[in-house]
Amino acid sequence: MCGIIGFCGYLDAKEELIKGLAELEYRGYDSAGIACYTDRGIEVIKSVGKVEGLKNKLPAKLESSCGIGHTRWATHGGVSEVNAHPHRSGNVTLIHNGIIENYHELAKELEGMGKIPVSQTDTEIAAMLLDSLYESNQGNVLETLRGAVERLEGAYAFCIMFADQKDVIYCIRKGSPLVCCSSEEGSIVASDMVALLRYSKEYFVLPEFQVAKVTKNTITVMDLDGTVVSPVMLSVHWDMSAAQKNGFKHYMLKEIHEQPEAIRRTLAPRMKKGNYLLPDFTEDGITDEVFKNTNRVVITACGTAMHAGMAGKILMEKLLRIPVQVEIASEFRYADPILDENTLVILVSQSGETADTLAALRLAREKGAKTLSIVNVKGSSIARESDYVLYTHAGPEIAVASTKAYTAQLTAFYLLAFRFAYVIGKRNEQEISYYMKGLDEVGALMEKVLEQKDKMKELSKRLTPAQDLFFIGRSLDYALACEGSIKLKEITYIHSEAYAAGELKHGTLSLVTGGVPVIALATQSDVFAKMISNVKEVRARGAMVILITKEDNDAVIENTIFDERLMIPAGDDIFAPFTAAIILQLLAYYTSSYRGLDVDQPRNLAKSVTVE
Ligand code: G6P
Repeated sequence: MCGIIGFCGYLDAKEELIKGLAELEYRGYDSAGIACYTDRGIEVIKSVGKVEGLKNKLPAKLESSCGIGHTRWATHGGVSEVNAHPHRSGNVTLIHNGIIENYHELAKELEGMGKIPVSQTDTEIAAMLLDSLYESNQGNVLETLRGAVERLEGAYAFCIMFADQKDVIYCIRKGSPLVCCSSEEGSIVASDMVALLRYSKEYFVLPEFQVAKVTKNTITVMDLDGTVVSPVMLSVHWDMSAAQKNGFKHYMLKEIHEQPEAIRRTLAPRMKKGNYLLPDFTEDGITDEVFKNTNRVVITACGTAMHAGMAGKILMEKLLRIPVQVEIASEFRYADPILDENTLVILVSQSGETADTLAALRLAREKGAKTLSIVNVKGSSIARESDYVLYTHAGPEIAVASTKAYTAQLTAFYLLAFRFAYVIGKRNEQEISYYMKGLDEVGALMEKVLEQKDKMKELSKRLTPAQDLFFIGRSLDYALACEGSIKLKEITYIHSEAYAAGELKHGTLSLVTGGVPVIALATQSDVFAKMISNVKEVRARGAMVILITKEDNDAVIENTIFDERLMIPAGDDIFAPFTAAIILQLLAYYTSSYRGLDVDQPRNLAKSVTVE
């Protein structure tokens, strides 16, 4: 949430900042701004709207080799130029990702000193505090930052420029992410790795409460007492093309197509062929002891990651016969959860930085539970702080609506459930081998569904005028219905709800009237007959039914109960969410396109939610 970048080097800073902001734009896109050191002092340019608008506003003459840039997702203060970052107060110009929770109290204090902000943001208050500390500490940066850390509550990643320290950027963070790299072109810091890829694949995460002093030639990391420390270097295998559209109209469409590959990449390091095909977590450092001593599992996450957890719960309970609970991270963390050392808490996060999921992780550790995270971004906070991490290898996901991260998270859950069931003796080698073979074939089945994308394109025309839409399903289909519904509503702005099909008649059925589209998932044999009864109930109220079933379903289905029927390839029911997900993602994608909306950057949303 909010993208930040700092560049100090041998290239034109404004151009590098604009490129970086364009890459980080999915983190927030209501306004943007940059600040650069020039011979005339620090120049700040801001604009409401997307980075492209800021680019068009830049003066032709802005000679600088060092500056900072920000793309905003508004928290405190509406969307306006004055509220856009960077914020300046006296000697201090800064950008911020996070929320300063005690800004009101600080503002009052500063007001007492005659300092009045011009914006409505918490960030400007932080800039004013830093400026006042800088003055009282006679320009001593470390004293200033120590003072600020003591006073600021909440989350922050700051890039700070001091007017009297030309071509130097200072960074410090708590909670919000910040990664750094050095290259021949200079030194770069950013909210996430995607913006560093053009310079280097080697990077480090700035540890919390440590200071990065960024200059052209080097980034010095030190403790707040000035002791220089060596950061832990990380590397990614992605190249620039992984973060580009590669001929697709939108990132979302590209990422939908990347799913078979993302799943194969996630599976490959855990597929060690022996006499039997069992999941192998040796490289991940996840030992069998983790499973042996577990009598309960709690899965917690936000958004799409939580929906992957819902499917994970159903699968795990089915195979393990131990209680598995799924909790929304923002609820879990304030619910005083009952956890002990025999509870395994699984955190799921694409970014590894979602504030509520991170807080849930910290709480679980505090309460003595074992923690295992399923994360896509290497070295992210959630990955670093968990006892165990199982990385998905989906590659960078840029579209705000998550697609490949979701199916890669499902893959991770399936691997975990299979190994767990084997270790605790609930399934034998032959049975696990059978499942693993099925999982190995999922990529090819997904490709078959992708080949039929024109069907979904055509069908989306019928959804485009809808005002309300319902997804129904039972069991694994219900978990997927929740994901289908969020996908549709976030990018098409059509009101949509997912319902457990059996629950419809306890309220929601009153909303199903003539022509209302209902997407009914009926891929699970054990509840198939019940599901078809529910389809008939909505049909009887005039719903326009799109029915999704499996090809090998040999039940006789009267063609009067649906308007359209889409089929996923044959195979074990447990793998149906992978292929059915593609249908739902494509329906959402094409419907959004037909409605002429910004598919990749839907209104009011952001990719990485680092505020609570
Ligand atoms: C945002 C994104 C969703 C994502 C959720 C959790 O809402 O738009 O796509 O599922 O955050 O993010 P995480 O990075 O923790 O998976």
